[in-house]
Amino acid sequence: MFQDFLKKDKKIAVVGLGYVGMPLLYHLSKKFSTIGFDVNKNRVEELKNGKDSTGELAEKDFLNNGIEFTNSAERLQEAGLIIVAVPTPINEHNLPDFTPLIKSSETVGKNLRKGAVVVYESTVYPYATREVCVPILEKFSGLKCCKDFFIGYSPERINPGDKVHTVDKMTKIVSGSDEKTLNFLAEIYGAINNNNIFKAESIETAEAAKIIENTQRDLNIALMNELSMIFDKLNLDTKSVLDAAGTKWNFLHFEPGLVGGHCIGVDPYYLTYKAQEIGHHPEVILAGRRINDSMGEYIAKQTVKKIIKSGQIVLNLKVLILGITFKENVGDIRNSKVVDIMNELKEFGIKLDIYDPLADKNAVKKEYGFELKDRENLDKQYGCVILAVKHKEFIDNLKAVQDFVKQNGVLIDVKSALEKGGLRKDIAYWRL
Ligand SMILES: NC(=O)c1ccc[n+]([C@@H]2O[C@H](COP(=O)([O-])OP(=O)(O)OC[C@H]3O[C@@H](n4cnc5c(N)ncnc54)[C@H](O)[C@@H]3O)[C@@H](O)[C@H]2O)c1
Repeated sequence: MFQDFLKKDKKIAVVGLGYVGMPLLYHLSKKFSTIGFDVNKNRVEELKNGKDSTGELAEKDFLNNGIEFTNSAERLQEAGLIIVAVPTPINEHNLPDFTPLIKSSETVGKNLRKGAVVVYESTVYPYATREVCVPILEKFSGLKCCKDFFIGYSPERINPGDKVHTVDKMTKIVSGSDEKTLNFLAEIYGAINNNNIFKAESIETAEAAKIIENTQRDLNIALMNELSMIFDKLNLDTKSVLDAAGTKWNFLHFEPGLVGGHCIGVDPYYLTYKAQEIGHHPEVILAGRRINDSMGEYIAKQTVKKIIKSGQIVLNLKVLILGITFKENVGDIRNSKVVDIMNELKEFGIKLDIYDPLADKNAVKKEYGFELKDRENLDKQYGCVILAVKHKEFIDNLKAVQDFVKQNGVLIDVKSALEKGGLRKDIAYWRL
């Protein structure tokens, strides 16, 4: 079967061309005949025109490999392998929102051919592929899973903005509904990453592996955040403590910080949902989530305390926020926790100027109601500056960041980007 794909007699379709789907499709297109399907017409149009607004791929990267971009679902009928990479968000009650996964499974089901393989890459809890997706595929195709069509699950590890750990350079976990499907998928994915494949013993094992990768990270950051609150009260600098402890061979290197975005802060809720469904109340995972979700408010309150101590009047003080995206060097603002800091500061009557070199102004306005400023329209100096995101532009010129602070003003360094030794003596400095 693999040979049919290699000879381009059979096609691979990727459903959902976002941060995960598009880089995967690009790497597959180097070896196979490919179709890229997305419901978002604007996304399909921009990709057809060689633009990737996620910033993951450069123009020259994906226009030469013959990918057929489309928003016609019928084109999926041409595919012998369909890979689904649609979002798996949570709702306002922190519960899994399966809408995109359900809708895309309906679409795939309606266009599924006998003998085809469907692989999910979206992050889900163990058993979701079999319990949520397969019944929809069967219903809309009229075909039977594991007899007429086959399924697999292969979690994605891509890290937006990271040009080192790309799809072709990472170990890829694959799993399948049977041995033959597993081996076939190992060959397909192996063809784009030098056969750097881990065959999971079941689909559920692969689902669970992905979700604990992010849960582990979330919890470790939560521990650092809790430590930073304790050390703050003890008048100790967290980074200095971590630098010292980090000299032990088995100390894990994590930093305190905001946990935003649509992976680390979201995926653990899929696991806790499933845990509760089967009668286990997850204490540790939810405690970590609570701490990480409260960090924006905590940082804002620390900021207000520093402003008061600096002798400035909080009401109507102008504060400069540097960076609004959910992490450094990406333009993605979804679930940004910097916004929690901003909302809390507004409650104190503080006025905000926000600058981010990568975030899209319209998207920020639409999503959060805040106006982004251009660099040239910023004031020369502010009573308080919050360096919230370690974008390269800020890190490359930390002196300029400090220069924004008025004499006797406050500098809040959320990501501990500045070295204490090089700080201006006339400002109050605080970091997590
Ligand atoms: N972004 C990451 O860093 C990352 C890393 C690992 C895993 N994941 C997981 O991968 C999955 C996808 O995440 P993403 O960041 O690529 O999402 P994304 O929002 O960047 O992209 C998803 C794409 O799917 C499209 N889509 C939505 N519903 C659709 C449907 N019914 N049919 C076809 N297309 C549809 C959207 O238009 C969008 O273009 C999620 O489960 C996520 O948790 C993401």
